[in-house]
Amino acid sequence: MTSTKEFHTTLNEATSYIKKQIDFQPTIGIILGTGLGSLVDGIDMVGTVDYDKIPHFPVSTVESHAGRLLFGTIKGKKVVCMQGRFHFYEGYSFKQIAFPVQVMKSLGMETLIVSNAAGGMNPNFVAGDIMLIKDHINFFPGNPLIGPNDNNWGDRFPDMYEVYNQGYIKMAKEVAAEQKLRLQEGVYVGLTGPCLETAAEYRMFRGFGADAVGMSTVPEVIAAHHQHNKILAFSIITDMGLPDNMHPCSLDDVIGTASRTEPKLRDLIAGCVERM
Ligand code: HPA
Repeated sequence: MTSTKEFHTTLNEATSYIKKQIDFQPTIGIILGTGLGSLVDGIDMVGTVDYDKIPHFPVSTVESHAGRLLFGTIKGKKVVCMQGRFHFYEGYSFKQIAFPVQVMKSLGMETLIVSNAAGGMNPNFVAGDIMLIKDHINFFPGNPLIGPNDNNWGDRFPDMYEVYNQGYIKMAKEVAAEQKLRLQEGVYVGLTGPCLETAAEYRMFRGFGADAVGMSTVPEVIAAHHQHNKILAFSIITDMGLPDNMHPCSLDDVIGTASRTEPKLRDLIAGCVERM
């Protein structure tokens, strides 16, 4: 098991490398999900750092994910963006998945914005909707906070009160209304993948109270919440998982819907960042 001291050394090496490449202190971190990579079009870029150059950083294996940190401004606010994220189904541990979030925190992050592609289970949703995540269910078989805890970072037993910042939720709804965007709101359940769900599983998760299901976000959000970041998260509903109306669903469908929806999400995120 990695001790807290060893972990700090690892984190310092990663952070120092990045700081040597780029003299920039972002306060907002953004994780771009599947097919949402071109959200970067909304960033006035200052520089990039490839994941594979950063000591101890995991490296992305999914083709649709680039793999670098982008530094720049959105509406004048300093951001660091993860272009490409890490999934449990790729074989990464929860600690590895959380590491980039902890690196962004060390660089100055106070707010984390997360986006993902998800299957919709609420029958009021349609593919192409954007869902504001108001809460989550951790259905992953683990948690990035298992192991020694650094009390300077966060509590041993973090409470999960208002993980998704209530002020941001209200703000996102206002921005969506201004932009005349239909914004859904709901609970995200995160699980391993890589299989999509069976009809019986969709029925079960819906019964649990979840509105959307996906393979990411929860580990990163837990790590970010542990370190007292304010969190705002969105799912693009790329396909519907309605147990009584099942259809085949391909990765092309998921990426196609995500790409078609992303200009709306880009504007929504830009509108939110402007007000942060
Ligand atoms: N299930 C799980 N993850 C997903 C889905 C889904 O239906 N769609 C996009 N990501």
